[in-house]
Parts: sequence; C-alpha cells; structure tokens
Amino acid sequence: MKTNLWLSLLLASVLACACGKDDTRPPVTPTPPDPVDPVVPDSGTDAKWGLKDLAQACGMVIGAEYTYSEYTQDKQLQEVLKHDFDVVTFGNEMKHDNIVSGSGTISFSRPDQMVGWANDCGLKLCGHTLGWHSQQQTDYLQTLIDRAADADAAAAAIRDAHATFVDKMVEHFDVYAWDVVNEAFADDGMGSWRNSGNTEAKYHVFLWGNYFEGGTKGFADAAFRSAKEALARYGKKADLYINDYNLEWNPAKLESLCKYAEGNPDVTGVGSQMHCNTDLSVDAIRNMLMRMVKTGKKVRISELDVPQGSIPTNSQADLIVTIFDQYLKIVPEAQRGGITFWGVSDKNSWLGANKEPLLFDAAYRPKESYDKLYAYLLDRSGLDKE
Ligand code: XIL
Repeated sequence: MKTNLWLSLLLASVLACACGKDDTRPPVTPTPPDPVDPVVPDSGTDAKWGLKDLAQACGMVIGAEYTYSEYTQDKQLQEVLKHDFDVVTFGNEMKHDNIVSGSGTISFSRPDQMVGWANDCGLKLCGHTLGWHSQQQTDYLQTLIDRAADADAAAAAIRDAHATFVDKMVEHFDVYAWDVVNEAFADDGMGSWRNSGNTEAKYHVFLWGNYFEGGTKGFADAAFRSAKEALARYGKKADLYINDYNLEWNPAKLESLCKYAEGNPDVTGVGSQMHCNTDLSVDAIRNMLMRMVKTGKKVRISELDVPQGSIPTNSQADLIVTIFDQYLKIVPEAQRGGITFWGVSDKNSWLGANKEPLLFDAAYRPKESYDKLYAYLLDRSGLDKE
C-alpha cells in the first residue's frame, strides 16, 4: 500500500516535470481543440479587397509560393491565391532537377499546368531558379563529366549544360522576374563566394561553381550573361535577380551580394529571401533594405516566412507589418520588386506546419497576421474602408 502510494506520487511528480510545470493540482482532462472547419468561414476571400488590391494601391506587388501538390490538392489554395496575391513562385517545379531528367531530356509538363492556371487567374510568375547549388539533376551532370575525355572537356560540357538550361527556360516561360543566381555566397561571415552546397546529399552537391573559370563568380557572370542573351534572343523582358538568405543579419554577405550587383550591369534586381523569425529587429530590416536600395537595382523580398523566435513578446503579425512598412518607406516605388511569402497555409510550409510561419492557418483561414497586414495596407492605401 505504502509502496503504491509512493509510486503514484513519484509518477505524478515525473509527469509534472515532464510538462515543465511545478503544479501539484490533480490533472484536468484537456479540452479538445476546436475541430478544423473544412470550409473557409470569415475568410479574406469574402472581403471586398484582397491583399493584392491594397498592396497595389500602396505601389507594390505581393506574392506567394506554392507547389504542384498543393495546387492539385488544395481547392482553398486557389481561392486564396486569386483573391490575395498578384505574383507567384513555384516552390520546386522550375528547379533544374524538376525540369531535366537523369538522361538530360527536358520536360515542362508539370510547371506548364501550373502556369496555365496562374495565367487564367491573371497571376504573374517569378521564375525560380536558373542557378543554384541545390536540387540539380546530378545524374545527368555526372554522366557528362564521366563521358568527357579530360577535365577541360568535362568543364566545357557542364558550362554548355547550364547555358542550354537557361536558354530553354527563358524561351519557354514568360515571367516578370528570374532568380538567376540563388544562394551564391557562403555563410562564413566574410561574404565569400560559396564553393560547396549546404549538404553533400545527391542533387545538392554544388557542381556548377567548379567548372567555370573564376569559380562561383564566373558561374554567376555566365548565368546572368546567358539569361540576358536569351531574353534578347526571344524578344522578352524580365528582371534578372541575384537572391540570397540571411542578408538581414549577415552584413558581409549583404555587402558582397550588393557589390556584385553594382558591378554587373546584367543584374537588374537584388533579392533577400528573409527566412527570418520574430526576433528580427527593425534596425536589421532597415539596414538591409537601405543597402539594397543603394545598388539602384530592383529590391525584392523573395521568400518571406516568420516563425516565432525566442522572444515570447514579439509577434509574427507585428513583424510582418513592420517588414511591409519599412519596405514601403525605404524602397522607392520605381525600385520595388515586391514581397513574396514562401507559402500560403502553415500546413504546407517547408519549415514544418508546427512553425506556423505564414499568413493562413492549416485550414486556410486568415490569421491575426493576415488581419493586421490587411488593416495596415488598407490604412496606407487610402482605399474605401466600407
Ligand atoms: C525549398 C522548397 O520550399 C522545399 O519544398 C524543397 O524541399 C527545398 O527547397 N531557399 C530557396 C528555395 O531558394 O528554393 C527553397 O525552397 C527554400 C530556401
């Protein structure tokens, strides 16, 4: 009896510790969470204005990323995209390993389905991405290397494969902007050009940089040259961006990227991904945007998502409003390339649904962040509040 009592007390205290609470009250049956409503009640999609109308009235575009599986599976995604966004980026479908097969054939069938629907809805497309260290068709590139007679021939084959990829992409897709070079700088705190991928897993080994004269810078120069020449060849116009992450808190990387853009007339835009969190300070946002504006190029926030950081009092809604506010205050209208969220619903965030980094919850209901951004843009836009 005594042992049983002791065991129960021990168990209760272990449970209390496991829950991180110093609480001796008897356990209470937790209230189950509200069931997720499958329809979209009180959605932003019922509102008179979408975020895009308000953003346009403020002189900027607002965008969102989505993937093929979300597009085919989530009806609500389509409603939200039509109502709230005017530009889109495909999460994976225009990357090298999605377009080029292991044997080197090129297929546009998946992104074409997405493009067709986006065009019907009047959504403009950002092409992501022509040059990256990740998600490359390594099987095909390795075959080219293995097949080459010597190192020079291998390098020529890889350079040619990249130029061909850029040419075919630019010929095929009509976009308002291309992420031409993505994540070309290292995380060494010195703003060096990167010379490896973030992981050595298949498809993520950084091959391109090793085969261009001048390393990764040579690769970037060639990528921009190829893109510019292809636009001219096919009579098209699009902004050509160099894009990277951590620019809001890595000043050396920011400086290298901006200097590179300033020194290369083929670059017409600088992009900051902003996979940030709520700990980010206003000063960090301001410093980044001011340096980007100084390049004289278009300035775009290309992959925004805002999970909670470590400071509990900072809110996602407030930080998102601050980012838009600083963007509108610091970036002159002629330089605005817009702000794109990396996802629509928390359910599909690449960071994991539990991070809740986006404007819409798992059931595509607008969150407080949506409401506050809406209110901020509405106020600034001067549009009819009725
Ligand atoms: C991510 C996609 O969202 C994921 O679905 C994929 O598994 C990995 O890539 N920087 C970029 C984007 O430029 O292409 C990445 O997208 C996120 C980080």
